[in-house]
Amino acid sequence: MQQHQTKDKDLGTEMEQTGLGCQPAAQSPVAQSTERREPEWEADALQVDSIRVGERARKDLGDTDALARSIDKVGLLHPIVVTSDLLLVAGQRRLAAVRQLGWTHVPANIAADLNDALRFELASRDENTQRKDLLPSEMYAQAQRLEPLEQEAAHGRHNEQAKVNLGLTDNANFAPSEKGESRAKIAQAVGTSHGTLRKIETVVKAAEEDPETFDPMVAEMNKTGKVDRVYKRVLRFQSREKALAKVEDGTLLDMVDLREGDFREVLVDLPDESVALIFTDPPYDKASVPLYGDLAELAARVLVPGGSLITYSGRCALEEVMRLLGRHLTYWWLAAAKHNGASTRMPGKSVFAEWKPLLWYVKGSRRDQEFVSDFVTCGPPGEGFKKYHDWQQDIIPAQYYVERLTQEGETVLDPFVGSGTTLLAAVRANRCAVGAEIDPKAAKLARVRLSEALS
Ligand SMILES: C[S@@+](CC[C@H](N)C(=O)[O-])C[C@H]1O[C@@H](n2cnc3c(N)ncnc32)[C@H](O)[C@@H]1O
Repeated sequence: MQQHQTKDKDLGTEMEQTGLGCQPAAQSPVAQSTERREPEWEADALQVDSIRVGERARKDLGDTDALARSIDKVGLLHPIVVTSDLLLVAGQRRLAAVRQLGWTHVPANIAADLNDALRFELASRDENTQRKDLLPSEMYAQAQRLEPLEQEAAHGRHNEQAKVNLGLTDNANFAPSEKGESRAKIAQAVGTSHGTLRKIETVVKAAEEDPETFDPMVAEMNKTGKVDRVYKRVLRFQSREKALAKVEDGTLLDMVDLREGDFREVLVDLPDESVALIFTDPPYDKASVPLYGDLAELAARVLVPGGSLITYSGRCALEEVMRLLGRHLTYWWLAAAKHNGASTRMPGKSVFAEWKPLLWYVKGSRRDQEFVSDFVTCGPPGEGFKKYHDWQQDIIPAQYYVERLTQEGETVLDPFVGSGTTLLAAVRANRCAVGAEIDPKAAKLARVRLSEALS
């Protein structure tokens, strides 16, 4: 660790004159106590104005007033860290706080190399109670700033190794460290693990390439701190794009009739009493609630007498949804699709949701008398989890009711296709499948999924 040699020739004089490294200014907004505690420097001090801040990872400095008050009260516990040419490495908030206090000088350590920088950073991270965590994207930006130091160190190691190889030195203590090790150190220095930093990198790089799609995901990652969740979403999105690029337009079997558009328009020519089962999953947001009324109206027309409509539904507007469905159909039963995996937190309700309601309505009275379960457990969220659609449902519930409530050759309808889960379940069971999807991209992905699964 290099001992700092102050660049400020006048500093010695000023310190001698005042007995201090600096004179806090009287007009400081947070330093209003009449008797100010004098800073005592553990390290040498640099002139505040001589420090170059450069392009920083941290954009949001947060509440520096609190930090300034703390520094004013107990002093600056951790010197800032700069490179030998006075570029700030660590301590942006501390620097802002001492500026706020009107200090002309600030204690600083000079980092000679990556190890020094990391040591300084870790020391201040561990002990600085006023620390404000970096946002994930800031962690990545900060890591990038540390990367050149790592490269310099690696270069040095490389030269040392070359000398050893040529017999120019017998430096037995030289131990080249692995690149992964340095990266892990950098990750630790910015406050995360190597794995998490790589995930953050994937999200940030995706946003650099396609800001329109991925900037909102970076914002979500920064807001919630949930790196893994956003990272997986980015991967899913990228894999869907790849699937779309690979198969321009899947050719579907005769048994699938997937129509692109609003179900209220594209299904008008569906013959009356031609559908044995509607198994579907409309959007859950409030604005979509009226769609349940249109769905029930369609069902009352196209279902065979005694045919069933089974629909997923959110729970928040359940009363209204049931009222709309009940205007055209007979309420039959409430079934449950049990999640297999982590439960979902329902913000605002303080509830862990462990299952989804399946509302079961019938045209007239149910046509068959086979006993079926009202509790179906979904498969574990494995490899293909939500691969084709953010709201993709597990196929098991659709499969269960298609197989029990319809016969081979009959028609199953899904007016809200999404990724085509119901259509796939129907075709696999040798039923004819009809569906509508308003989102062209989702419809295309459903076609890709069906042709992949059925070819
Ligand atoms: C909850 S998702 C269905 C997910 C599906 N169950 C799956 O497993 O992939 C609802 C879908 O309905 C579509 N949608 C919404 N309004 C629609 C409408 N009026 N007509 C047809 N599709 C609609 C949305 O674009 C979305 O893809």
